[in-house]
Amino acid sequence: GREGRGHTWAKAILLGEHAVVYGHPAVAVPLHDLRMNATATPINGPSRLRCLDYEGPLTGSGARFDCVAQAFEAAREFAGCPRQSFIITTRSDFPHERGLGSSAAAAGAIIRAVLDACRRPACAEELFALTQRAEAVAHGRPSGLDAAATCAPGPLRFQAGEMRPVSQRIEGAHLVLADSGVHGSTRQAVTGLRERYEEQTEAVGPLIAELGALARLAVTALEDGDAPRLGTAMDRAHEVLAALGLSLPVLESLTGAARQAGALGAKLTGGGLGGCVIALADGPQPAERIGSALLHAGAAAVWTHRMHTSEAGQ
Ligand code: PMV
Repeated sequence: GREGRGHTWAKAILLGEHAVVYGHPAVAVPLHDLRMNATATPINGPSRLRCLDYEGPLTGSGARFDCVAQAFEAAREFAGCPRQSFIITTRSDFPHERGLGSSAAAAGAIIRAVLDACRRPACAEELFALTQRAEAVAHGRPSGLDAAATCAPGPLRFQAGEMRPVSQRIEGAHLVLADSGVHGSTRQAVTGLRERYEEQTEAVGPLIAELGALARLAVTALEDGDAPRLGTAMDRAHEVLAALGLSLPVLESLTGAARQAGALGAKLTGGGLGGCVIALADGPQPAERIGSALLHAGAAAVWTHRMHTSEAGQ
């Protein structure tokens, strides 16, 4: 048999995290400089997994690998080679469990590699369904945002299970991502917010709705090529997320440092209570300055991502 290959990317939620859980829109962007690569090499004997911090049997290896193992099984079955063994290797440019979509990205890359090795073509809908199936086992009820955004050519708007590509017409904008180094449990953040929502619906409901409105504003800012408007929406969203109890002192100091260094806007991204922050920069030099400031403020890692312009539907 021959080796198969597949890749996906990291994703960041630009706006609308948490609001999307309540039926409001969210916008996510694939980060095309941060790749997840997978290879599938046919072998005899039991299948094995090789990734950054693990090498060993692919099945029955514990919760962390549930999604990967599910993706592998689903892909073998779909490809019509359920009994062929493989060595699966993944190599990623970004850390897992930081809200960057690593589990969906790994599932998507492995699925593509296995299908490639088995010479089984699949359309975008089939690939999405396979990735979602793997994510569902690992995460319960994933919205589908990660499965879609980690293989998208450009930004996506997502609402109530419906997604559509968004045209990105801001020229020269960069996103600077910084890892706080703190593991943020999305599940815990979502559960905590749900409790506050049930207890104080009148106070919390409007804040969640405002996050949705800001996500809509972000869509039009991208489409209109209006970076300052997008930055202002990001700043406000961070305030709202903080008011909802989803920030941490480390996220406050990182977003503050980014703004001080000239970011058009900065916010936490993803579940919050840890994880990453994103900052919007209007050019490569400002992005570099903001990146240094974030490292200086204690970020565990920083990535700069050029936001290429893209036309939806092309
Ligand atoms: O932390 P991430 O990138 O998996 O994003 C979580 C986004 C939430 O809106 C908080 C939860 C969800 O399921 O959409």
